[in-house]
Amino acid sequence: MRVLLIGSGGREHALAWKIRQSPIVTALFCAPGNPGINTIAESVEIKATDTKGLLKFAREQSIDLTIVGPEQPLAEGIVDLFEENGLTIFGPTKAASELECSKVFAKEFMKKYAIPTAEFRSFTVAERFDAERYINEVPIPIVIKADGLAAGKGVAVCETKEQALEVLDMMMEQKAFGDAGLRVVIEEFLVGDEASVFVITDGKEFIILPPAQDHKRILDADQGKNTGGMGAYAPAPIVTDQILERIRHAIIKPTLVNMAKEGRPYRGCLYVGLMITETGPKVVEYNCRFGDPETQVLMPLLDSDLVTLFIDASSGNLKRTIKFKHQSAVCVILASGGYPDSYETGKHIVGLDVAGAEPDVLIFHSGTKQTKEGIVTAGGRVLGVTALGQQDDLEGTIDKAYRAVEKIAFDGAYYRSDIGKKGVERLKQRQQMETR
Ligand code: AMP
Ligand code: GLY
Repeated sequence: MRVLLIGSGGREHALAWKIRQSPIVTALFCAPGNPGINTIAESVEIKATDTKGLLKFAREQSIDLTIVGPEQPLAEGIVDLFEENGLTIFGPTKAASELECSKVFAKEFMKKYAIPTAEFRSFTVAERFDAERYINEVPIPIVIKADGLAAGKGVAVCETKEQALEVLDMMMEQKAFGDAGLRVVIEEFLVGDEASVFVITDGKEFIILPPAQDHKRILDADQGKNTGGMGAYAPAPIVTDQILERIRHAIIKPTLVNMAKEGRPYRGCLYVGLMITETGPKVVEYNCRFGDPETQVLMPLLDSDLVTLFIDASSGNLKRTIKFKHQSAVCVILASGGYPDSYETGKHIVGLDVAGAEPDVLIFHSGTKQTKEGIVTAGGRVLGVTALGQQDDLEGTIDKAYRAVEKIAFDGAYYRSDIGKKGVERLKQRQQMETR
């Protein structure tokens, strides 16, 4: 198998690490890759969004399987393009990736098929006054979401009506997200704990990966601004077996069955972002790809061949046999000081080898660059440090991850110090209930 992976983040490094272990892979290319990925895959100087360039490369290099990491190429229809040209590619078509690319589509779809999600209404620019009236009618807090892709920045949780009106103005009048904000979803604020559930599907059959929890805010105790994700752990005890069954029957099955019914069969990885509320799990958002940093904890937990799984899913032959290690995994993200606002780059990173030599520790690169003098920072999220440990000892796994993190240094390095803490508290609560 000659495999092409598209993307350049920590998610892709974790995927590449797992793909590399496949006994059926003879060559692995990554476009464009990063210095971490480039130690295990051959880097290809083509941008992830250059779908035509990628098609040309895949044909010339007789690529047997292409795997898409980020959402942009999916939104541009890379899967349709490759399939029209007879190539095998893992990911949803343009029509299926609407579940992520249009929040209005996703919400209308969930409403039509009674999939649990926050109450909402959607508005176009022409309906701006109706949107303002709606904001004044409904209780706060409320959540406003730009319809289209906005690099994770198109969602605002508004604590006051004034703030909501400002956000509406910013999206519709000042066009802060371009066309993506010309339609908006205004929805009810959901209270609960968030969880990420990933599904690998061929459109009919599906496999659910262990539930994970991301840490989206920049500061400890979920304070401060939203980021791409500051750390993750899996399995997340908030998603009990009972809750997972509800997610399977009330959310995942109806999503896949009805996407097919709508003429948009969903193949690839479906990321279901959930709020576990008092009345059960509800969908916060769908994404049409793997999540980052969740993938950095899920790949090390997978005990089956990823490439076979991708080929089976891409060709409509998914078998429901897949194994996971009975372990826990924790990933701590090291970020550039200042992120998610502006930050400096080009800082020398030391300690990568020492940290990477720790037992049960993996280092995945996100925003790094190779220079003559060594590896330097080149992005907001710089590295992901993942540790593996016993499943019932999440605390021990967290300690292992932080011990490795402390061996890495660069000017301005920042990380949250409470990754996984919520999971530890949940496990303790559960143990107390069981002994009662
Ligand atoms: P999204 O990009 O839709 O995942 O939204 C980003 C973040 O905003 C989510 O991870 C949640 O923390 C928060 N969020 C989005 N929608 C809601 C909601 N309806 N209720 C509460 N929080 C939300
Ligand atoms: N973990 C958040 C995301 O990948 O969108």
